[in-house]
Amino acid sequence: MRLLFSTEEIREKVEDLASQIRGDYQGKKPLLVGLLKGSFVFLADLMRALDQPLEVDFVRLSSYGHGTESSGRVRVLHGLKTPVRGRDVLVVEDIVDTGHTLSYFLESLARRRPASLRVCTLLDKPCRRCVPVTIHYRGFTVEDVFVVGYGIDWAEEFRYLPAIYALEKAECASKTSSP
Ligand code: XMP
Ligand code: MG
Repeated sequence: MRLLFSTEEIREKVEDLASQIRGDYQGKKPLLVGLLKGSFVFLADLMRALDQPLEVDFVRLSSYGHGTESSGRVRVLHGLKTPVRGRDVLVVEDIVDTGHTLSYFLESLARRRPASLRVCTLLDKPCRRCVPVTIHYRGFTVEDVFVVGYGIDWAEEFRYLPAIYALEKAECASKTSSP
């Protein structure tokens, strides 16, 4: 496993994103919508760094099985319960990869007529994009590596790591072949 971003680098980036967002949402009470499970650690830190009135809700979508490749199909495992009509919605994502998940979700949100709809992602892997998505607040750009830690898993492992790491191909393979 190779360290990509230390806890200190993540903390600084979260502060930086929060100050951009705070500036853009002055006098507003945004609804932060986190995509479970990967975004929950980032959202928790971002929310506290924002330090302004806001609401939080979560959805759970799935386009990944237990592996490292997006299937391109998105399923809703837990939909959004908070009404979004007229709300300033900020979607909070851990990582945008092919863009399938986010583009599917943004289309479904847009149909519900929010006052505004923006995206904040901690990590962006633009080299893997299949579907275009507009990202308003971007933390780090990463190359084509599978990342874990800071809430982000590989087959439900490694979420607990406080920093962000690249998982080497051999590690994915050895996990897949283990009993
Ligand atoms: P898409 O391809 O739809 O994928 O943009 C978005 C979701 O896929 C997960 N994902 C990853 N999870 N390491 C992970 O642990 C990765 O490198 C990675 N790339 C994508 C993630 O949940 C994201 O929301
Ligand atoms: Mg995610």
